[in-house]
This record gives sequence, C-alpha cells and structure tokens, in this order.
Amino acid sequence: MSPALTACHSIADLRLLARKRLPKVFFDYIDGAAEDEITMQRNSSGFNKYELLPKVLTDVASVNLSTTIQGVQTDLPLIFSPTGGQRLFHHLGELAVLPVAEKENLIFTLSSMATHNIEVVGQAAKCNKWFQIYVWKDRGVVRDFIERCRVAGYKGLCLTVDVQTSGQRERDLRNGFTLPPKFTAASLVDMALHPSWWWHTLSKPTITLANVAGLTGKAVENATSMGQNAASQLDPSVTWDDLAWMIEQWGGPFLVKGIVRADDAQRAVSTGATGIIISNHGGRQLDHAIAPVAALPAIAEAVGESTQIILDGGIRRGSDIIKALALGADACMIGRPYLFGLAAGGQEGVQRAIDILKSELQRSMRLLGCNDIRQLNPGLLQLMS
Ligand SMILES: Cc1cc2nc3c(=O)[nH]c(=O)nc-3n(C[C@H](O)[C@H](O)[C@H](O)COP(=O)(O)O)c2cc1C
Repeated sequence: MSPALTACHSIADLRLLARKRLPKVFFDYIDGAAEDEITMQRNSSGFNKYELLPKVLTDVASVNLSTTIQGVQTDLPLIFSPTGGQRLFHHLGELAVLPVAEKENLIFTLSSMATHNIEVVGQAAKCNKWFQIYVWKDRGVVRDFIERCRVAGYKGLCLTVDVQTSGQRERDLRNGFTLPPKFTAASLVDMALHPSWWWHTLSKPTITLANVAGLTGKAVENATSMGQNAASQLDPSVTWDDLAWMIEQWGGPFLVKGIVRADDAQRAVSTGATGIIISNHGGRQLDHAIAPVAALPAIAEAVGESTQIILDGGIRRGSDIIKALALGADACMIGRPYLFGLAAGGQEGVQRAIDILKSELQRSMRLLGCNDIRQLNPGLLQLMS
C-alpha cells in the first residue's frame, strides 16, 4: 500500500487525499450535496447526538463482526452503496471496488448510473452483488434490467425511490461538471495539477454511463442533460403498485432505498419488500430531509421485527456503525467513504477505507464491552440532553 494511503488514519484523511488527487470538479461531485448541504452535514453530525455507555469486565478477547444480510453471510455489517460515475474517480471505476468486496466478503451494489455494465460487473468478481434500479417510464426497460440481473447472477434488487426529480447540486452547476469531461482552458491548468488523473482518463475508452447510455435515445453528455434525460425517462408518477409489480417480477431479495418515514416503511413491508434502506441519498436530493440516524428509531419500532433495516448515509466512523446497529439497524451502507478511498488510491484506497472502518468498529466494540454486533441494543447509548 502506498505511503500516502498508510498515512491516512481516518475517512477524513482519505477525503483530503482524494481532494489532492482529483480535479476539483470531480471531487466536488462526490463531496457535494443538494442546495445548502444541510442534510448531508446532519447525516454525519446526527451520530454525535448519541453518547455510548460502555460496560466493563465483559471478555472482549474476540469480537464477532459478521452478520447475515438478506440471507447472505457477510464479514462486516457493511454494504457498498450504489454510486454512479465511478470511472470519474479512478480509471478502473467499479472494477477497483469489486476485488475489495470479494476479499472482505461484503455485498457490492451496482448503480444504474455505473460506468461498467451489469454483465461486466457480474463477471468481474465473486462477491455478492445487488443492482440498484429505478422505475423507467418504459416498463420494458425495467423488465430488461431485471432479466439481465437474473442472468448475470445478482442476488438482490434495490429500488431507489428518492429521485422523483434530480436534486439541485450547486457545486456541480458552479463547476460546470460534464460527463465525459470536456476540455476547457481550465482543464489545461488542471492537467498540470492532476497529470495522473488526466493521463489515465484520456488514454482509456471514453467514460459513459454503461447501463443507460443507449436507453435514453439521446447522448448523455453532461450533468444537465444527464439530469434532464433521467428526469424525462424515470417515471415520476411511480406508486406503491409499481413497487408491487417490480417485487413480483424479481421474485427475490428486494430492498427499497430512500425511506425515512415509519409509515412508508410499513407500506413497503406490506407490499412485499424484504428490506428497507433508510436513506436520503447522502443529502444529494431533498435538502433539509431528516437524517437517517434520526429517522431510524421510529422505523425500527415500526418494522424492525418484520424486516431488515439498513441505514445509509453519514457513516464516517466505526462508532457510527455501532450506534446505527444499537438503534435497530441490521447493517449500514457507505457511499462517500469508499469513493474517497477509490479516488485516493484505486483498489488500495478502497481497501484502506474498509480497513479503517473495520478496525474502528472492532476497537470501539471492545471499548464498549461488547463482543458481538448482535448484542448491540439501545441500552448501550443515550441521546445527549
Ligand atoms: C458520487 C455519488 C453518486 C451516487 N450515485 C447514486 C446512484 O446512482 N444511485 C443511488 O441510489 N444512489 C446514489 N448515490 C447515493 C448513495 O447510494 C448513498 O445513498 C449515499 O452516498 C450515502 O451517504 P454517504 O455518502 O454519506 O455514505 C450516490 C452518492 C454519491 C456520493
């Protein structure tokens, strides 16, 4: 592992290294969120409202971090969340993340907006894979995605329900974010600052959104057209009936990503979802939406006995994972933490992100006096007054 990566001791350190390695426009694409970015900040700061109540003299010589998620045994209560555009952050994109998912026995979720397609990713590694899907106006597109996932061996589908329209990401607008990256006078200056990124990007095939490039009927050229195309092709009139239809079409593990209300969680479960992903898209959609950690207790009370709950958003420390599990989540998803690693150092950087979170989780479990994540419960923390 490179010395720059071993000098990173936290996800915050990896973020700073990613900022050095990436052109500003692509760093901001990862790091930014909607409007004033209030929700993104609260996604993380919400964890700080809880303090832990450690037990002592409990024998923590060995600590079990493994769990079962949607019938699959994984070594950590962590899942790679679906994130689009990964080749913008490292030239291998998703292919640099998959080997880490395989080595660490974690589930990888492929985004609909990925830069490698369902089949390529399906064959690239033996890890368990889920596919993140949207409801397209043309239901034939949905059927096609589902069939391709089945053939390619994906184990679960994850329907994202918080993109009724694109969130307003102002950093991207100010930076003039484009895909593929466009040459401007500013790019020439940037090349001098980030020669490695530009060399890799310009010497490899053009970056595309491999799963959807041919579907919209128009070239997916820049953030605006990407957003417009998505908004015009994704169906904003989607209802619970569509969810029921998709669950039936798939017939396997089916998670709904983007739920923050207990009544919606109950409805998803009664419609047949096998898991709930509490998420606000990392604060990239509706600014001022509630943070997942704040939404978790009510959802856990409503559906915790009947379904699996995954908390997605704001995880930056192992202790955040502990708090989420203690409050009723079965596992957590991470987005930016592994993208910072990817940008900082490709596969090794993703590995570093997982190593950091794993060792923080293990250490904090010991210091909390808990030797199995299945023992985490609300009695181990309290809301600060
Ligand atoms: C660069 C980037 C791209 C993303 N692309 C998608 C996507 O294509 N589909 C999706 O459902 N969520 C997407 N997300 C949201 C993540 O799946 C996840 O909800 C979010 O990153 C969790 O917050 P965290 O980054 O604080 O862990 C994206 C997030 C980022 C940062």
